[in-house]
Amino acid sequence: MKTVQPGPRAVPAWLRQRLLRAGGSVPFLTYMEWVLHDPEHGAYGSGRLSIGPHGDFVTAPSLSAEFAQLLAPQVAQWLERLPRGAPLALVETGPGEGQLALQLAQALQAGWPHLAERTELVLVEPNAGMAERQRRLLQASPLPVRWADFTALATTPLRGVVLAHEVLDALAVERIERRGDHWCRQRVLLVDDRLALEAAEPLAEPLLSQLEGLGLLPLDGRRPEGWRSELHPGLAPWLAACAGALAEGTLLVIDYAHEAHRYYAPQRSNGTLMAYRLQQASDDPLRDPGHWDLTAHLCLESLNEAAREGGWSLLGSCRQGEALLALGLAQRLHALQSGEPARLEELLKRRESLLRLVDPAALGDFRWIAFTRGGPTGGGQQLPLFLSQPEV
Ligand SMILES: C[S@@+](CC[C@H](N)C(=O)[O-])C[C@H]1O[C@@H](n2cnc3c(N)ncnc32)[C@H](O)[C@@H]1O
Repeated sequence: MKTVQPGPRAVPAWLRQRLLRAGGSVPFLTYMEWVLHDPEHGAYGSGRLSIGPHGDFVTAPSLSAEFAQLLAPQVAQWLERLPRGAPLALVETGPGEGQLALQLAQALQAGWPHLAERTELVLVEPNAGMAERQRRLLQASPLPVRWADFTALATTPLRGVVLAHEVLDALAVERIERRGDHWCRQRVLLVDDRLALEAAEPLAEPLLSQLEGLGLLPLDGRRPEGWRSELHPGLAPWLAACAGALAEGTLLVIDYAHEAHRYYAPQRSNGTLMAYRLQQASDDPLRDPGHWDLTAHLCLESLNEAAREGGWSLLGSCRQGEALLALGLAQRLHALQSGEPARLEELLKRRESLLRLVDPAALGDFRWIAFTRGGPTGGGQQLPLFLSQPEV
């Protein structure tokens, strides 16, 4: 992926109008919400972003179906633990192009038909532009599919597994910046008809208490003037709403995440926020608003705390590399050696995409964090929970 440098920050008319209506500036969180999720102008809301090797950025399921095939036994195991005969749901939140949902439905149908026959796919996607593309792809789903939001699902909570693959990193973040003796909230404003960032009002409760818990208060010399990072106020409401939709089962979060001491390390002076478009990366969130994906890593302690408050118990966590190796990735690689030489090009492609999934400098560094609620699915199990080796 190429890294691009900040360019001119021309302001589209819709954003200029909104900023002026808001008094000239808004918190970064509001800006991020608009440029990602506005139904007309947002990168996801409009359906403008596309995921895959020929799109704006790749995700594991967009590389091949093997990610879903490796994950399927784990999902099946969690579904098996739910009450016998009960209707089951496989819920994907933030399904993007819908590839993971389709590939998992196909893997479940092929490997666990007894589960597939009582499982429905439920997609939770707030952005109509993305849901439209998911609808087209999921016409091929072997399982019944529906789209719903957490509020609607809460009227008849489900039993099953919820996946959040690269979705929580798309929640809008509050950017914080040190100014003198204060942590300040970053705002986006208009300056001479250009977008700019400024450290504005000092942070108030409850964010101050959160900062204290994360070791960022009291302020000391290790994080100098201008040091900035992110907080995720959207995590707790998201996790609580997700809990309301699930009577019993497991939530698997897969995302870039760091422990607080790494996330807020003094040397990480510009946080984790990045922008992606057309396979390019930029650390300038003000570039072409509504055309770039903006994403921020998760802080593991903040995620766990928000999950606990929301009614989830932590089941376990590990790096993606470890999880996929335990789920049979090495056996898949080994099996490629006995492939027909005539299919060499295809075999090499498969090898490359499998290795990308576990590359510690890329997707292999993703974290898998599983939570459980209701029923006996918890009980101190550790990830990976895989019981028997899958067929290759
Ligand atoms: C980076 S894409 C992930 C796509 C897919 N999971 C994958 O890995 O290929 C983020 C997806 O999350 C959706 N999204 C954003 N905010 C969301 C929210 N609060 N709840 C559910 N989905 C959301 C976006 O519209 C998009 O479909």
